[in-house]
Amino acid sequence: MSEIHPAVSAPVIRRTVVTGAAGFIGSHLAHTLLQAGATVIGVDRRGPASDKFTAANLSVLQGREGYIPVTADLHDCAIDPLLVDTDVVFHLAGVPGVRPSWGWQFSEYVRSNILATQRVMDAAIRMRVPRLVVASSSSVYGVTSGGPSVESDRPRPASPYAVTKLAEEQLCLAHAARAGCPTSVIALRYFTVYGPRQRPDMFIHRALDAALTGRSLRLYGDGHQRRDFTFIDDVVAATIAAGTSPDNTSVLNIGGGTNASLIDVINIAQSLAGREIDVRSDRARSGDVLSTRADTRLAEAALGWRATTDLPSGMRVQMQALTHSTYPAAA
Ligand code: NAD
Ligand code: UGA
Repeated sequence: MSEIHPAVSAPVIRRTVVTGAAGFIGSHLAHTLLQAGATVIGVDRRGPASDKFTAANLSVLQGREGYIPVTADLHDCAIDPLLVDTDVVFHLAGVPGVRPSWGWQFSEYVRSNILATQRVMDAAIRMRVPRLVVASSSSVYGVTSGGPSVESDRPRPASPYAVTKLAEEQLCLAHAARAGCPTSVIALRYFTVYGPRQRPDMFIHRALDAALTGRSLRLYGDGHQRRDFTFIDDVVAATIAAGTSPDNTSVLNIGGGTNASLIDVINIAQSLAGREIDVRSDRARSGDVLSTRADTRLAEAALGWRATTDLPSGMRVQMQALTHSTYPAAA
């Protein structure tokens, strides 16, 4: 393992735009940036009245000093005025989730993940924003041999969602590679992120919910799928480091470098809650890969970052948040 050096004299982010600020990862990122004293323009097409999960995400941001919410769809809103004097755009807005992307909703994935991204990148260049960090996905690797994925591996996306995420990151990088482009791009390939306020369609949320409430849990396939589950605080730290890093490495894996099976997750959830989960077997879903695991050496070298939260500790924090709504602690 290479030695980790915290970013030395990284420039401070004064004013930033976080797209997808009403979402799971975006709301955590915006919250941490606000705590660090930045002005955060949070852009999202959802608002507090959209649904209870979005309301919970936004509740940690509303009314905080420095937070400027903008409810708008990046596919057709005016973006330039939002980017005046911006140090970094964190572009997290998008339609996530592997399994729903096969059906009619595909056009939604294209609309937000590709067409809206093109508009955001175009605007960032026009407004001469120095850095754009874009949320890409481990799903771009597709089916692997089970070993860690390296950024230089040939992407083999196995779902329509993954195709749009690969298009999204490559679109931003193609713009950035043009001669004279004022905006440098770092694409972060996040590996299955979990933690407080995780999206309710995701497995760890559902497993903890089942363990706490007694509701049944649908298990797609045999449960031997493995994921490099990555805790939200680690993801936020990597994302902020990418916003200020002098290193211009363009694609970085953001994962823990280990993985666990869905059965491991069920066992941890049961022991945390002290209750057996009623597991209902269901068919394996198309596009679900057997295993993900990040090779994190590039991220360590470029960002001086390494994930520090193990799965049982992170799941404990997520469970406590589900039971007490105490996360993040008021600060
Ligand atoms: P999320 O659904 O909680 O947040 C995404 C937000 O983007 C939502 O609030 C949504 O309203 C907003 N959005 C979508 N399209 C928009 C548009 N056209 N205009 C304005 N806002 C729009 O998802 P998340 O889990 O927080 O994921 C955030 C990003 O990270 C996504 O780009 C996702 O693809 C990527 N990602 C997530 C994970 C993960 O494990 N959660 C892993 C890899 C990559
Ligand atoms: C997650 C996110 O949902 C994607 O948006 C993201 O891009 C991706 O991580 C990534 O790393 O790039 P996924 O790994 O499928 O995708 O994470 P979950 O939705 O939590 O699913 C994990 C596993 O649990 C999958 O095998 C899925 O089939 C299974 N699962 C999920 C169930 O068995 N039951 C459920 O109710 C939900």
